[in-house]
Amino acid sequence: MEFARLLLPILQLVAVVWVLAAVDVVPVAAQSPAGCSRRCGNVDIPYPFGLETRCAIHGGFVLRCNTTAGKLFHGDTVEVTKISVEDNKSRFNTWTSWQCYDRSTGQMKYSDAWLNLTGTVYVLSADDNKIIVLGCNNMGYMIGDTYVVGCLTKCDGTSPMVNGTCSSTSGCCEAEVPRGVRAYNGYFNPSYNTTKIWQTTPCNYVAVVESASFEFSTTYLTSTVFYDTHKLGIPVVMEWGITRSTCEQAQNDETTPYACVSSNSSCATNDAGYVCRCSKGYQGNPYIVDGCTDIDECNNGTSNPCTSGICENTPGGYTCSCPRGQSMSDNGVCKEKQKLTWMALVVDGPYQTDRPQANRCTPARLPCSLGTTEPRTRRSSATPASAGTHHSGR
Ligand SMILES: *[C@@H]1O[C@H](CO)[C@@H](O)[C@H](O)[C@H]1NC(C)=O
Ligand SMILES: *[C@@H]1O[C@H](CO)[C@@H](O)[C@H](O)[C@H]1NC(C)=O
Ligand SMILES: *[C@@H]1O[C@H](CO)[C@@H](O)[C@H](O)[C@H]1NC(C)=O
Ligand SMILES: *[C@@H]1O[C@H](CO)[C@@H](O)[C@H](O)[C@H]1NC(C)=O
Ligand SMILES: *[C@@H]1O[C@H](CO)[C@@H](O)[C@H](O)[C@H]1NC(C)=O
Ligand SMILES: *[C@@H]1O[C@H](CO)[C@@H](O)[C@H](O)[C@H]1NC(C)=O
Ligand SMILES: *[C@@H]1O[C@H](CO)[C@@H](O)[C@H](O)[C@H]1NC(C)=O
Repeated sequence: MEFARLLLPILQLVAVVWVLAAVDVVPVAAQSPAGCSRRCGNVDIPYPFGLETRCAIHGGFVLRCNTTAGKLFHGDTVEVTKISVEDNKSRFNTWTSWQCYDRSTGQMKYSDAWLNLTGTVYVLSADDNKIIVLGCNNMGYMIGDTYVVGCLTKCDGTSPMVNGTCSSTSGCCEAEVPRGVRAYNGYFNPSYNTTKIWQTTPCNYVAVVESASFEFSTTYLTSTVFYDTHKLGIPVVMEWGITRSTCEQAQNDETTPYACVSSNSSCATNDAGYVCRCSKGYQGNPYIVDGCTDIDECNNGTSNPCTSGICENTPGGYTCSCPRGQSMSDNGVCKEKQKLTWMALVVDGPYQTDRPQANRCTPARLPCSLGTTEPRTRRSSATPASAGTHHSGR
């Protein structure tokens, strides 16, 4: 009874139809134009993307901003919630296919979601997404032009239903997304439905979803939580490529400009085509002239690679050296030069230093093995002062 009421909002919804215009992938220019809007709602729009043709690298990278709603779109309907030049990826909000028993008609109601990005710069990321099928009597699948992928779920009681565990005998199964997919339809096998089990688990689902953002909950089967959570969209990760060419083809193509225009950048090929990235030690936007800038490794508060030495930033890298009298250990820590002695260890009182002392001997941990023994010596006055700051000298 209660369930029938819960379900009503779902059943009244009209099936979502999802049409995408194919965009011709023709590069026009390889510079980042000035005076372009680079934000829509909370989403940054880095070049090569843009809101107008002149602001994007080519027509395939033009997006649409609904300023009223503060939402960014590819085509008319697909919401774009994130764009990352570093990852060569975007995140889309897409739809879920659902199928629920309608008590009033005794029929199954359904909505089959589909996505067709044929002719666009995007492909579904095979590494970041998966196909999920939910329900207690459900065979769901994704059908594309060249593939069918799906799986079968039951709730047969052989294993307990556990939050966070997707198990095909407990109402949830997963399948891998094939590589290079640009189009799919989510379908239900009509031989499986919830007619007999509508009182407890009336709905089935099929969706492509970002793996990192899906976690199975037992309430997805027994309530409308899954639908309610994702009726405005389910996150899916897309890869994109400047053109479908390989790097070599793109570099040698004299008819279209090569997109990796920044110095200290390079080209890489993914499932969608070719993309650019800043060389190791550089960061920024490789699609813009001088977009890749040197990373100051020495000035990174969270992960200084040169833990206690003297760090010097260099173009594309850094050097890490130790003050005189000290030597570098494997993990970038400067240590007093080892004075191996076969005699008893002399320690000048309890250690108080600013870093973990896992390998060091302390009076409390004696005896130490010789290899890790580090007799503490006072630093001579010849030690460069800069070392003292790294060591918070004692
Ligand atoms: C923009 O979003 C608003 C609010 O969601 C909507 O009413 C309007 O139709 C949208 N405009 C366009 C051009 O899509
Ligand atoms: C961007 O794409 C290139 C080529 O596929 C890949 O090597 C690189 O790892 C990607 N970057 C990230 C952060 O995924
Ligand atoms: C996607 O659209 C193209 C035409 O734009 C069509 O040829 C193709 O069959 C469609 N794919 C799917 C899976 O619907
Ligand atoms: C799973 O989590 C939901 C809340 O998110 C809770 O209501 C439900 O009882 C949990 N299921 C199990 C089997 O612990
Ligand atoms: C549910 O599946 C059964 C078995 O295939 C079938 O006989 C029945 O007609 C289906 N019910 C609906 C409402 O589609
Ligand atoms: C970065 O680019 C500049 C200018 O082309 C070049 O001089 C420099 O050697 C490059 N850095 C590295 C680490 O290759
Ligand atoms: C510091 O390094 C970490 C790991 O390499 C990186 O994620 C972070 O962005 C860097 N922070 C700054 C300020 O460069």
